[in-house]
Parts: sequence; C-alpha cells; structure tokens
Amino acid sequence: MALRFPIFMDAQSTTPCDPRVLDAMLPYFTEKFGHPASRSHSFGWEAEAGVDTARARIARVVGARDPREIVFTSGGTESINLALKGVAEMYRERGNHIVTTAIEQRAGMDVCKRLERQGFQVTYVPVRPDGLVDVDVIAAAVGDRTILISVMLANNEIGTIQDVAAVGALAKARGVLFHTDATQAVGKIPVDVEAMGIDLLSCTAHLMYGPKGVGALYVRRKGPRVRLAPLIDGGGHERGMRSGTLPVPLVVGFGVAAELCRQLMDEEGARVGRMRDRLQDIVLSGLDEVFLNGRADRRLPGNLNISFAHVEGESVLMGLNKETALSSGSACTSATLEPSYVIAALGASAELAHSSIRFSLHRFNTDEEVEYVGQRTLETVKRLREMSPLYD
Ligand SMILES: Cc1ncc(COP(=O)(O)O)c(C=O)c1O
Repeated sequence: MALRFPIFMDAQSTTPCDPRVLDAMLPYFTEKFGHPASRSHSFGWEAEAGVDTARARIARVVGARDPREIVFTSGGTESINLALKGVAEMYRERGNHIVTTAIEQRAGMDVCKRLERQGFQVTYVPVRPDGLVDVDVIAAAVGDRTILISVMLANNEIGTIQDVAAVGALAKARGVLFHTDATQAVGKIPVDVEAMGIDLLSCTAHLMYGPKGVGALYVRRKGPRVRLAPLIDGGGHERGMRSGTLPVPLVVGFGVAAELCRQLMDEEGARVGRMRDRLQDIVLSGLDEVFLNGRADRRLPGNLNISFAHVEGESVLMGLNKETALSSGSACTSATLEPSYVIAALGASAELAHSSIRFSLHRFNTDEEVEYVGQRTLETVKRLREMSPLYD
C-alpha cells in the first residue's frame, strides 16, 4: 500500500477516533438527542439506555464489578483532579499526607502542588533508572497521616508499567486509599481494579480510539466504599460526584471504544508491539550513542522512547515533522523547551533529557510506515550529528 503522509506516530498524545466509534456516536447527535436524566419520556429513556450500555462497557474494560462505580468526566485531567482533590477534602480529618511518584503526568503533579499550598504534605517517590518505582520505597513513605497513594499505571513518556497490584496490596494492608492514573493503560493492557486492589482509577476516551472530551473515574463502592467531595456541584448527576448533563454522544463513543479495545487487546497488543520492536531495532542498530528510556520488558506495546546523544530532540522533530508526527517529551510540556522531567527523573543528564524522542504507535500504523519512519530517523540524526561540533 502506498504511504500516506504525514505518518502519525504520536498516539500517546491522542489516538485517532475509530470510524466504528464515530458511527455509533452519530445518531446521538441527531434523532437520539434526549437528556439521559429525563425520566418522563422515550427520548430520555433512549439516551439513558445509551449511557447505561457505555457505563457497563467501561466497567468491564477496567474489571469493575458494578457499573455504578464508573463516574463520567470530561477526561483524564478532570478524573485525576476529582480523585485527588475529592479524597483530600473528604478525608482531611483523617490525615493530610499523600504519596505519589516523581513521574506522574502534569495533572497529578499540579494537583499535588496545589494541595501542598493548601497544607497537605506530598511525598514524591523517585523512580529507578529503569523508570519503575520501588514498592518498598512507597511503603516506607506511608505514615499514620497518609490518606492516599497515587501511582500511575503506565507512563505517558516512557511507557513503563508499574506494579500496581503490589501498590494496591500495600495500600490495603495500611488502610490507605489507592488511586492510579491509568489513562495510558486502559484498553492497551489488561487492567483489573479488583485483582490490582485499585480504589480509584482515571481514564480517558481519546487515548482509546474514542472521542476527546470524555473520561471516567472508577470509584470503589465496596471494601472500602470510597467517598469523594465533588469538584462540580449541581443537579446531583453521577451519584452526586459530578453534576452536569452528560455529553451522551461522547459517552456512547467512549463505550464502543472501550469494547473494541477489550476485544482487540491481545491481537492488537501483539501486532503493535511487533511494529514497535522493529522500529526500535532499526534505530538502535543503525546509530551509535542512542539510549532506550524505560525498562524494555515492562512497557506499553506502542511506546518507544529514545535519547540521541549529541542532537537536540527538537531538531530531530523539525527534521521529520513534514512527514511524520512524533514528539519530544509529552504534549503538555512540549510548549516549553524544558527538558523532560520524566527522563531527568531516570537520572539522565540534561543533555540526554533534551535529546529524547517518543515514538508511539497505534492501531492503524503499518509495517511500511515503521520502515519509513525508522530510515528517515536514521538519516535525520546522522545529518544533524555531522553538523554538530560535539560529535566526531
Ligand atoms: C498519563 C496521563 N494522564 C492524564 C492525561 C490527561 O488526560 P486528558 O487529556 O483526557 O485530560 C494524559 C493525557 O495524555 C495522560 O497521558
């Protein structure tokens, strides 16, 4: 098949919406436009049925027993805000300490910074050079005043998958709530809130081939029943945790996206993982002084993050961006030219942190695209290095 440009390999910033998802959403913009809380007529019942199906599908993809444990939000950022601020406010009498990691996405980081300004204490547990957190270090950080542990499931830059089941077991043993930012993981790798001991889980549709603007927070109802102070007060929707009329078309699309991910996960994970391995092989075998970021055997299947010594990540991107969409660091930090705090947290030098590129592959990439992007990356890095006085 002929290549079509630009080639999108930035699927950890967002994924394309699957056409099957869009098809399922469209009737909810037109003839099925009812308000899901309208109980007195069929327009409302129809919309409510669409929302119920979606809620059950999202519950299933995260292993929740009860669909009522799914609270719809506007996306991952809101879910994380609701989880962290909601617990902080509700459990403040019990304690004011939160344990998290040094590599959380900006939403988790920025909420924690705000909570610190409000008098909470936050411990940012470091990661090892391979991008994994040591559960013993988390255990050592938990104290009498700890109310919440928040550890992301899969990292948005380096793709590393944390041992959340061990963190969940620790949280349970210590009587502390456990939130995980699973925005990058849900739909890509198996997630099971029961088996992993997760009390709160954040996810978003736009990283699962669904629409932008909708996400969910899983909130455990039993063993323990988690209570949250809402961020948004109003009509008491979503069991009082998130008031406001649900965006029914987006919610329906999210449900279909979750169901497709669940059904395709094994095959897709293997295929995307093979393409990623091939791309990694092309780049690592074709260049010297390139470094893989994040532990190779505990990464999301589509993630490849590499530092290229002696070149700036931004220059590599500029050399490639007419035909290929990649990123250096995460989308939210790429507006600034600061080095990636995630790569820096691995202990890398500022130079290597500046030279990292994230390739993230997805459902619709092809083998031909991988070959092309691999070869173009080699040419671009070689050309930049030839011009660099630092490289000989
Ligand atoms: C790990 C992680 N958490 C949270 C978010 C925020 O999700 P959203 O864009 O739906 O607000 C992202 C977005 O890319 C992410 O990668």
